[in-house]
Amino acid sequence: MSILIRGGTVIAATGAHRADVLVSGERIAALAAPEAGLTGAWAQTADTVIDADGKYVLPGGIDVHTHMEMPFGGTHSVDTFATGTAAAAWGGTTTIIDFAVQPKGQSLLATLDKWHSKADGNCAIDYGFHMIISDVNESTLKEMDACVAAGVNSFKMFMAYPGVFYATDGEILLAMQRAAENGSLIMMHAENGIAIDRLVAQALAKGQTDPVHHGLTRPAELEGEATHRAGVLAKVTGAPLYIVHLSSSPALEAVRNARDRGQNMFAETCPQYLYLSLDDMAKPGFEGSKYVCSPPVRPAEQQDTLWQGLRTNDLSVVSTDHCPFCFKDQKELGRGDFSKIPNGLPGVEHRMDLIHQGVVGGEMSLARWVEVTSTTPARMFGLYPRKGVIAPGSDADIVVYDPQATQTLSAETHHMNVDYSAYEGLGITGKVDTVLSRGSTVITGGEFRGNAGHGRFLRRDHNQYLL
Ligand code: URP
Ligand code: ZN
Ligand code: ZN
Repeated sequence: MSILIRGGTVIAATGAHRADVLVSGERIAALAAPEAGLTGAWAQTADTVIDADGKYVLPGGIDVHTHMEMPFGGTHSVDTFATGTAAAAWGGTTTIIDFAVQPKGQSLLATLDKWHSKADGNCAIDYGFHMIISDVNESTLKEMDACVAAGVNSFKMFMAYPGVFYATDGEILLAMQRAAENGSLIMMHAENGIAIDRLVAQALAKGQTDPVHHGLTRPAELEGEATHRAGVLAKVTGAPLYIVHLSSSPALEAVRNARDRGQNMFAETCPQYLYLSLDDMAKPGFEGSKYVCSPPVRPAEQQDTLWQGLRTNDLSVVSTDHCPFCFKDQKELGRGDFSKIPNGLPGVEHRMDLIHQGVVGGEMSLARWVEVTSTTPARMFGLYPRKGVIAPGSDADIVVYDPQATQTLSAETHHMNVDYSAYEGLGITGKVDTVLSRGSTVITGGEFRGNAGHGRFLRRDHNQYLL
């Protein structure tokens, strides 16, 4: 099966250029400048020709932070691997890396088996796993090596959620030492959970139970403090460090300072921190619960700082932290007590569009759009050059993107399995036109043509850290 994508502008992390792209089977076979005169012959033999005139041709998006079917707060995030990967494809994401969650007292390898059985045969696009460590002990530390051998070479730890996922500084230090030895990456949820839990208890005792108090009891300074502390622990152990879902200026400053000193410390942010704010969490009634996630969305003034961090590469990646809970019955668990609202937002479908909107608004270049949503995620998480670039030999994970099309985000039209949109009514310029995953058409002409068994597990190795 061969496909010729003709007349488009290929966007790479290094820049944009006009090129025709030939796909053979699951891989990209060749690129040619239109004036090279090769594509007439290619068009004669290709099984399918896609007209990309006036459109962008990009490497498929890579979302390195999703939670499908994740147990949290007595419930589960509502997208399954089937619904969540299909929604991702609708939005131009062709790879996700999801978090397997070690329950306390259980082994990492048993956890990994469990996540394989959830995802296997259900995914429309390729997928990998990180491992959440919630129980640091001798056997977990040894099992980190086995996870790396099994293609899972990144581990998330929590400085938040005492009694659930929380790890002490000593436990973090031990895991970082192991990561430094086995070449894996520690990903940190950096919020000072011990202090936050006190603030939460004080607020509830004062009768402050509305969703906005979720944000007010998790001040940005406590994210900054934890980010700095995580950086110091990483420095002492020589481990590289990746801060997940960075939301605020103090945390960004901690990352910037470490990087300026040459430390292998990286961070991602997420669209919710670029587009949503504390004002959303303060909406009347219980509406604000729709925006409850941790770290919380911040005062709107912080958004400019995050866009700037993306430009300066102190923020290297945009992921979604897709963790959807329905408003009805799930977010509602926290009526009368904000601390019982399941934490997390839907977003896997909208990341490419929302960051493209940053290109439209002059916040970043086209090349940077592709770099933070595809190329750097591929490099940092051991998938490059199989993924993250349009080059001969790479997987044919390709998005044809129409920069002129317009759309309005809404729960009425999205494909995520959740009953609200965090971006309801937001107008976007740009829209996915066609999506290929390893040479198979997943989205075309406004239709889903994928299938749940197509996506394969990606064994990852050789993370490339580029300051
Ligand atoms: O609120 C969030 N972020 N929910 C998902 C779990 C996590 O901490 O990433
Ligand atoms: Zn987290
Ligand atoms: Zn998360």
